[in-house]
Amino acid sequence: MSALEISLTVNGEPVRQTVEARKTLVDFLRDDLGLTGSHVGCEHGVCGACTVRLDGAIVRGCLLLAVQCDGAKVETIEGVSDSGEVADLQATFQKRNALQCGYCTPGMLLAAQELLKDGQVPSRDEIRAHISGNYCRCTGYHAIIDAIEATAQARAGGSR
Ligand code: FES
Ligand code: FES
Repeated sequence: MSALEISLTVNGEPVRQTVEARKTLVDFLRDDLGLTGSHVGCEHGVCGACTVRLDGAIVRGCLLLAVQCDGAKVETIEGVSDSGEVADLQATFQKRNALQCGYCTPGMLLAAQELLKDGQVPSRDEIRAHISGNYCRCTGYHAIIDAIEATAQARAGGSR
């Protein structure tokens, strides 16, 4: 099997590694770098469990090859969690019972953060539409929408 050397930035750290040409980004992050916060569900772009950020925008880690990310900046749930960027979202997910098994949660947090990053307070319908590409088998979504809405309101200066 062919392998290529790639250089990229992962959670602010430079990474140079030889990777199988057919390996997906999410498998590279999990298997080669030990960043197991990004999950693998459907493996064909439907469930959102593998969501990561590529050059600032969320992408499906199962639909990209690692070699396509040569030269890119990748951020995973570990990075945005360690930096504190999503600390308020995480606390509100916990407070509002917006996770049960947690399998969807890393992708859900990254999707939510993308929606909220410009300081807007989206409607519940907008939140619902935005996270429609992230499946949750446990919560029924209402608590997740509550948590995202509450975080948006808190960031805008309202009450949580
Ligand atoms: S594992 Fe990538 S979208 Fe489901
Ligand atoms: S909390 Fe289990 S899949 Fe969402």
